[in-house]
Amino acid sequence: MEKENNIILTGDRPTGALHLGHYVGSLKKRVQLQNTGKYDAFVMIADLQALTDNAENPEKIRQNILEVTLDYLAVGLEPDKTNLFVQSHIPALTELPMYYSNLVTMSRLERNPTIKQEIKMRNFERNLPVGFMTYPISQAADITAFRAKYVPVGEDQLPMLEQAREIVSSFNRIYKCDILVEPEAILPDNSTCNRLVGTDGGTKMSKSLGNCIYLKDDEKTLKQKIMSMYTDPTHINVADPGHTEGNPVFIYLEAFSTDEHFAEYLPEYKNLAEMKEHYERGGLGDMKCKKFLNCVMQEMLAPIRTRREEFAKDKGELLNILKKSTEKAREVSDETLAQVRRAIGIDYFNDAEFIEKFVK
Ligand code: TRP
Repeated sequence: MEKENNIILTGDRPTGALHLGHYVGSLKKRVQLQNTGKYDAFVMIADLQALTDNAENPEKIRQNILEVTLDYLAVGLEPDKTNLFVQSHIPALTELPMYYSNLVTMSRLERNPTIKQEIKMRNFERNLPVGFMTYPISQAADITAFRAKYVPVGEDQLPMLEQAREIVSSFNRIYKCDILVEPEAILPDNSTCNRLVGTDGGTKMSKSLGNCIYLKDDEKTLKQKIMSMYTDPTHINVADPGHTEGNPVFIYLEAFSTDEHFAEYLPEYKNLAEMKEHYERGGLGDMKCKKFLNCVMQEMLAPIRTRREEFAKDKGELLNILKKSTEKAREVSDETLAQVRRAIGIDYFNDAEFIEKFVK
């Protein structure tokens, strides 16, 4: 009987500290999965992927290696339970893409909707780095090197998983093996969290758009960001009827508030449905909504912030954790790499069949 595969792999580009979009889109799920004790989990700091559009600015990545590590520990990932490693120190992750890239056509890469959108956002035009265009191939290596079955990510990563599955199936078919595992995504539970809007109501919370709430924001910064959030531009006077749909304050309340929060901070409503109803009818001001949202968010983020400050006191220990986990991850992925070479048939020096056929 084959052993059940319960391997999880996911990661983040270290181009900045992690924000609320990362938290609801993936971090929260990772911690839940970790705490079930049922999985072998790998979480990767994707510095190679970060370099694909930051080749000229490696300092930005260096600055954020420990920042992201701190965010991981702050949200509750535990190095004893989840392997937290650095991508660039895993040889398989630079070698496998070389083999996989022969199995993927240019036109297939060009059809990837996430890549298309990212190219547009970055105004690459003729200056598109080859490494950026091919990062979905590298991402397939990240996942398959660890034989991960499950990949907790946000919706925007689905095209990457589809690409990875195609590579796996081509590889196993062409090289007549079953070494590589087809991964599947684990998406957030609710659609609001799949792509959290920014504080400006824009389509996505994103560092480059300057509309983020960071996990490390202090109490004052968080409050300021909430109080200056975009709401419903047609809701000018308190008495005016307002729109809750597409209104980021209500989107966040949908994502984060519970009936207990109402009981504690805003007992005049039993739940969000009642509050929304009042807003839509008219007579409920934005200020009051934002103050409530601030209470909800402070309650959620305070423990994360406190843990982050605790871990930040010993950066040497952080580096040690990363180093040890990275060594472990390297062992696991080296094994896949060796099998891949054997399957392709390029393991000449150890291949008895090769030696028998061509040497003797
Ligand atoms: N592309 C992912 C992001 O931008 C980061 C990432 C790199 C990743 N390698 C991965 C996610 C492998 C899941 C699996 O957020």
